[in-house]
Amino acid sequence: MIRIPVHTPSRPYEVVLGSGLLARAGEHIGKLAGRGRVFVITVPPVRRRWGKVLMQSLAESGAQADILQMADGEPFKRLATLEKLAEGLVKLGADRGAILIALGGGVVYMRGLDVIQIPTTVLAQVDAAIGGKTGVNLQSGKNLLGTFHQPRAVLIDPNVLTTLPSREYRAGLYEALKCGIIGNVELFRLFEDHRREILDRDPVVIEKVIAESVRLKAEVVSADEREGGLRQVLNLGHTIGHALEAETRYTQLLHGEAVAWGMIAATQIALATGRLDPASAERITSATVSLGKLPRVKFQVASVLKRLQADKKTRQGVVHLVLPTQIGKVEIVNDVRTSVVRSAIEEIESLQ
Ligand SMILES: NC(=O)c1ccc[n+]([C@@H]2O[C@H](COP(=O)([O-])OP(=O)(O)OC[C@H]3O[C@@H](n4cnc5c(N)ncnc54)[C@H](O)[C@@H]3O)[C@@H](O)[C@H]2O)c1
Ligand SMILES: [Zn+2]
Repeated sequence: MIRIPVHTPSRPYEVVLGSGLLARAGEHIGKLAGRGRVFVITVPPVRRRWGKVLMQSLAESGAQADILQMADGEPFKRLATLEKLAEGLVKLGADRGAILIALGGGVVYMRGLDVIQIPTTVLAQVDAAIGGKTGVNLQSGKNLLGTFHQPRAVLIDPNVLTTLPSREYRAGLYEALKCGIIGNVELFRLFEDHRREILDRDPVVIEKVIAESVRLKAEVVSADEREGGLRQVLNLGHTIGHALEAETRYTQLLHGEAVAWGMIAATQIALATGRLDPASAERITSATVSLGKLPRVKFQVASVLKRLQADKKTRQGVVHLVLPTQIGKVEIVNDVRTSVVRSAIEEIESLQ
C-alpha cells in the first residue's frame, strides 16, 4: 500500500493506493466516517462492475451505507444533476455528519459534505480526484461554475481500471505522461521503457505510473491550492487542447486526447522558440504518439487561434502557454508570437 500526503492549507489528506483496495475500502472509510452515515454516489457503468465490491466492504465494516446514482457522462455534469442528488440525499436523511463517497471517473463529485474520492478512471486517479477542484458545466462553457473542496481522503485501486474501455484508458494516460514531462523524469522514462506493459495494463507498472503521477500532482497542489501560479504548470497541453476540444464541439476528442495534441503543439513551440533541444522534443512527441493513434480532428486553424485569444488565461491578446524546457521541466511564457503558435497548430494537421 502506498500513501501519498496532500498538504493543502484548507485541509491535509492522504491518497492511499493499492491493488484490491476497493474491497478493503470499508476499513479506511470507517475510520474517517465514525458513526456518520455513508452515501455512495456513482454512475450505472461503474455501479454495475464495482458497486457490489464497495457496498460489501462497507457493510463488513459496519457502516450504514446507501447508494445513489446519477446519469453517466459529461452532458450530465450540470446543476440539474446536483440538485437531484441533493434532493435524494435529503430524502434518505443525510445530515452534516454524513460522508459522501464519489465512486467514478472525473465527472462524479460533490461538495458541502465530507467527501471521499474513489476514482475509477486513469484520468480521475491521476488528476481529477486530487486537488479539490470541483465544477459543473453551463450552456456557455465547461466547468464555469465550481469551487475548491478538498476531499477527506482519496482511495485508489488500480485494479478497477481492468474494466475501463480502452480509449478511456489511453486518454487518461496522456495526463499521466504530462506529469512526467512537467516534473518527473523517472515517470517519463517509464513511458519510454515500458510502453507495452502500460498499454497492456500490467498491474505492477500501472501502479507505479499512477503513484508517480499522484505524487507530482500532490506536490503541486500542496504548494498552490488555488491556482495562484505554480498550479498552472498542470495546464501543459491544455490551452491549445481546450481550444481543439471546443472547436470540435466536444464530440471528437476525449479530454486526454485533446491534451495530447496540445502537448505536441507546445513541444513544437518550445522547439521553435529555442527553449527545448531537438532530441528532447523528439522524445516527448514520440512518447505521446506511441500511446496509440490519436483521433483525427478537422478544424480551421484561424478559428482555433481565435479561441486561444478568448481563453481565460489570455491577457491583452497574449496567450499564456506552458512549454517544456527539458524533460521534467516546464516554463510559463507569454511572449510567443502568433505566427509561431499558428505553425504549431498547422503541425497538428500534418501529423494526422
Ligand atoms: N477536478 C479536476 O481537477 C479535474 C481535472 C481533470 C478533469 N476533470 C474533469 O473530469 C471529467 C472527465 O473525467 P473522466 O475522463 O474520468 O470521465 P467520466 O467520469 O465520464 O468517465 C468516462 C467513462 O468511463 C466510465 N467508467 C468510469 N470508470 C470505469 C470503470 N472502472 N470501468 C468501466 N467504465 C468506467 C464512466 O461511466 C464513463 O462512461 C471532466 O468533466 C473534467 O472536467 C476534473
Ligand atoms: Zn486535463
